[in-house]
Amino acid sequence: MSNELVVITGASSGIGEACARAFAKLGRPLFLGARRESRLAAVAQECERLGAPRAVAHALDVTDKASIEAFCTAAGTPSILINNAGAAFGRNSIDKLRDEDLTGMLDLNVTGLVRVTRALLPGMIAARNGHVINLGSYAAHGVYEGGVIYCAAKHAVRAITQIMRLELSGANVRVSEIDPGLVETEFSVVRLGDEGKAKKVYEGFQPLVAADVADAIVWVATRPAHVNISEIVLTPVAQSSLSKIHRG
Ligand SMILES: NC(=O)c1ccc[n+]([C@@H]2O[C@H](COP(=O)([O-])OP(=O)(O)OC[C@H]3O[C@@H](n4cnc5c(N)ncnc54)[C@H](OP(=O)(O)O)[C@@H]3O)[C@@H](O)[C@H]2O)c1
Repeated sequence: MSNELVVITGASSGIGEACARAFAKLGRPLFLGARRESRLAAVAQECERLGAPRAVAHALDVTDKASIEAFCTAAGTPSILINNAGAAFGRNSIDKLRDEDLTGMLDLNVTGLVRVTRALLPGMIAARNGHVINLGSYAAHGVYEGGVIYCAAKHAVRAITQIMRLELSGANVRVSEIDPGLVETEFSVVRLGDEGKAKKVYEGFQPLVAADVADAIVWVATRPAHVNISEIVLTPVAQSSLSKIHRG
């Protein structure tokens, strides 16, 4: 493959960081984005140690149009784009939903993903080579109370992924979605704003770790060029549905 570049949004922690490490071990050049620049720089440095020929850390706020433009211009054309930046804010029911959580989740998980994709896709189409991998969620396969906007946002990501596959028919650009259940990352700390409450989410069972999800992403990205994996749903064995979790 002539262009090996892997672009990852939200690479400063969790699944994005695990993907960066995994692709570094495969010797792929990396272009990494997130808001926490010093953490991102440390991830990039570690990736070069692990085998990436080049790992660039570049500031990115996917809720800011100018930041996306600067990031995507500097990145160039990727062979793989991993749209990973995302989060949930709060667990409120719709009547108690805070306006900043409503707009914040949609801006980050939906608008941001679309804008990054819109900026980088033309290069992939022109090159007739590319793979867009969107981080959806198990929350795109059902609903739960307290997840009104997060579930809606991830359902939207799933629809966007499916529509992209239709629109890219004949373009030789692959489109995949990875939909994990409970993964112990900083996700719950961000969502609940409290380390103690976040720990409780994963109590009494073995959650997925970020490397489990990165494993699935690497597998999706390394199939033969004519194979497109549409979506993967992966959960901890203890998680039978969005709300049924066996805590031993
Ligand atoms: N953990 C789970 O249980 C789970 C399950 C299903 C799906 N997911 C999805 O997996 C993805 C990664 O989440 P994670 O679990 O790895 O959580 P995480 O550890 O909190 O990582 C989230 C990443 O997104 C970045 N990010 C957040 N806001 C951003 C913004 N405005 N602009 C750019 N980057 C931003 C964060 O970096 P900065 O803060 O430095 O910007 C961080 O690198 C998300 O899309 C999430 O919805 C997670």
